[in-house]
Amino acid sequence: MEELIQTVAEFIVHSKRIVVFTGAGASTESGIADFRSRGGIWDKYNPEDFYFQKFLTNDKSREKYWLMSTEVYESLKKAKPNPVHHAIAEFERFGKLDCIITQNIDGLHHMAGNSPEKIIELHGTALSVSCLSCRRRYDRDEVQERIRKGVRVPRCDECSGLLKPDTISFGQAMPERETTLAYERSLGSDLFIVVGSSLVVQPAAYMPLRAKQGGAKLVIINRDPTPHDGYADVVINGPAGYVMAKILEKVREEMGSP
Ligand code: APR
Repeated sequence: MEELIQTVAEFIVHSKRIVVFTGAGASTESGIADFRSRGGIWDKYNPEDFYFQKFLTNDKSREKYWLMSTEVYESLKKAKPNPVHHAIAEFERFGKLDCIITQNIDGLHHMAGNSPEKIIELHGTALSVSCLSCRRRYDRDEVQERIRKGVRVPRCDECSGLLKPDTISFGQAMPERETTLAYERSLGSDLFIVVGSSLVVQPAAYMPLRAKQGGAKLVIINRDPTPHDGYADVVINGPAGYVMAKILEKVREEMGSP
């Protein structure tokens, strides 16, 4: 693993437009469960129950959605950035980071100090809530307070429309601006680093391949194998926090501190 870490550090030193792509595995060391590992969210809940169409069509599904989402939000609220987030923030200070494409809804890249304009939240954010009818926006904590007081399916004060966290559910349309930007930046990158994703959910999982098509080097850092490992220049199967901290250490040795 040390040799692979050294290789990735050299890739970083010689790159100009680095795109980092993160998934739930980047935040497990911050205490937020991922989805597909043992003990993950889809181990406890059936993902079939959370399709957007079901949320739109029946109250039972909406109640179930808010139960699951409340549990996830409570773990997000307590979470702090870990060495993965801190390393990526430092890549930006080195002037090497083109952008972060994240599937995560936890806001930890913002909290770690990356510039908001460099963070592409492909699956939205759990930190705010909107009305699906009039698009009025609500602070998440304010809506959680209603849930805590017994409301099962919160509705809009203006139009009584359905409120939903600003995350992208299965079957929900992807955010156009973010998706287009992610495609463009992936294609334009010279080094694409995946951290903590199973790479099974589309269209997000297509981004690493897009980067390869554009001539980028591809690095995958994930505890378990992924379907894209065969396309990667380097695959490191290990704990992301440790690996990213070690990579940063090597980069600092070569480049000094930013
Ligand atoms: N270090 C390295 N890898 C880790 C760590 C860790 N500390 N913790 C977990 N992993 C790896 C797991 O091995 C797993 O392969 O992270 C991966 C997380 O995969 P998923 O749980 O599938 O998460 P993700 O790829 O982000 O899921 C994509 O699916 O459910 C939807 O919308 C949700 O954005 C999510 C999307």
